Amino acid sequence: MEPFLITISLVCVLGALIYIYLSWNFNYWRNRNVNGPRPNLVFGNVPALIKHNRHMAFDMQEIYEKYKKSGERFVGIFMTRNPQILVIDPKTVREIMVSNFKAFRGNESSLWINRNVEKVSIRNPFFCLTEEWKERRIDVVGGLSANRLKSAIPIIFGACNKLTEFVRNELAQSKNVIDLKAICYNYTVEVVSDFIWGINADAFKSGKTANVILEMSRNLLDTSFKRTSFYYMSGLAPFLRNLSKMRFFPKESDDFFMKIQKDALELRLRNKNDRPDYLNYLIQLSEKKNVSLIDMIGHSMTVLLDAFETSAAMMYHALYYLASNQTAQNKLRKEIMDNLDEHNGISYDTLMELPYLDQCINETIRLTSPIPVFSRRCIEQTFLENSENVNIQIDPGMMLHIPTYAIHHDPEIFPNPNDFIPERFNDGFAKELTQKGSFLPFGDGPRICAGMRLGQLETKAGVFEIIRNFKLSRKDDNTSKHIVDPGAFIIGLAGDLLVEFELIK
Ligand code: HEM
Repeated sequence: MEPFLITISLVCVLGALIYIYLSWNFNYWRNRNVNGPRPNLVFGNVPALIKHNRHMAFDMQEIYEKYKKSGERFVGIFMTRNPQILVIDPKTVREIMVSNFKAFRGNESSLWINRNVEKVSIRNPFFCLTEEWKERRIDVVGGLSANRLKSAIPIIFGACNKLTEFVRNELAQSKNVIDLKAICYNYTVEVVSDFIWGINADAFKSGKTANVILEMSRNLLDTSFKRTSFYYMSGLAPFLRNLSKMRFFPKESDDFFMKIQKDALELRLRNKNDRPDYLNYLIQLSEKKNVSLIDMIGHSMTVLLDAFETSAAMMYHALYYLASNQTAQNKLRKEIMDNLDEHNGISYDTLMELPYLDQCINETIRLTSPIPVFSRRCIEQTFLENSENVNIQIDPGMMLHIPTYAIHHDPEIFPNPNDFIPERFNDGFAKELTQKGSFLPFGDGPRICAGMRLGQLETKAGVFEIIRNFKLSRKDDNTSKHIVDPGAFIIGLAGDLLVEFELIK
């Protein structure tokens, strides 16, 4: 045969083999009588995970909206070529996360980590496989109880003071327009450094980018985004995941925080300083049970990661929505002023229970949904009832996705879903919706966010501090919309969020 014909034949055979490989699983859901969208040969049903043309939350939202209309409780989708489930019905959400948690106690993030090369992050409950998850979670949350946070309130207010001082100084120099993102990240870095290790990060002093703790924390998140992208792309050939030495968190950040932890620990043991912070808790924990230095670093990094990024995102979005809505801002300011104590301050209990502040935070977290989709992995064979009341068998290993962003923007649950309306959370509505599986800002069930209380405290304290001291207004006109950043790990508005600050006399 002609060499040309041989080449053509080989290319055709190769093409056919690739096609068969990529589409091999595509009958998986049809064979099980589960409805779902037709997958793209290469990208499956969630192309944004690989293309990054928009945030993947929107791919999920499209599927959710289409199949909610046809009354499905869940649909079969494909992440590249891998069959998975997208949950639609809130009762099924509750069943997976709460009542049948035993069968669905795994999650997808435990698979993102390369366990051969990472020693610190594998200690974070978010990345733990089911066997070690429970113990690690108990150890982490022990240091975040209401009583411990109550004692640590001076630490949080210390960071609030630095925040106000910084803004006041800017205003004194006629720099009235300030990027909310920059100040909120500086604030959360101040909180975490002081709360975890008793370190003064001086984030506001060193400007926008020069602070080393801030840079290292950012570094952690940038690398993790690359690793998750790789994880989804390698869904086409999963064996690559084990071959790759790519890390979720960069080694230099691990080493940096390891040194901070060691130094802070040595100093604390030498000075016998009984400070109400997380390091103090870890020392007490190590006196009770065998906790290695690397365990301590793992727990500290767990707190660092979310108390830095997710809480900052909550705070700058809340302030941005308040700057866009003067009525809500004035109402909140009045509530704050009415609840100041005789020293012009506020107690932990009062702060955490201010009803309108709580509504503003709930509305922000609904609108933004920082973790827009979370997953559960089936660990034991079980069944889910479909819309025709037929039990569908779910096998161990099956991944199920809960599209919180889509649920939080469902107009049947939240009318005018794109508007900031804190009043919709009047009268305990948030709790009622969570129990119905329709409002899940921190997840639900035994795997609910381990740092919910700290995240709320940090955010509420920061918003309280800004709103009582400054009047905020949007610099751009209220109609211009920021797009959601497609390349970010958590969901959030892209670009600087510029807001005009005015000191309240
Ligand atoms: C306001 C900020 C925060 C938000 C919106 C948030 C949101 C979430 C969500 C949605 C989940 C997934 C829950 C699920 O799968 O059911 C989660 C898990 C988790 N969060 Fe947070 N979080 C925040 C702050 C924090 C903080 C400050 C910590 C510090 C310790 C933290 C630690 C964790 C951990 C360890 C998990 C994994 C829990 C497990 O799998 O057992 N989070 N968070």
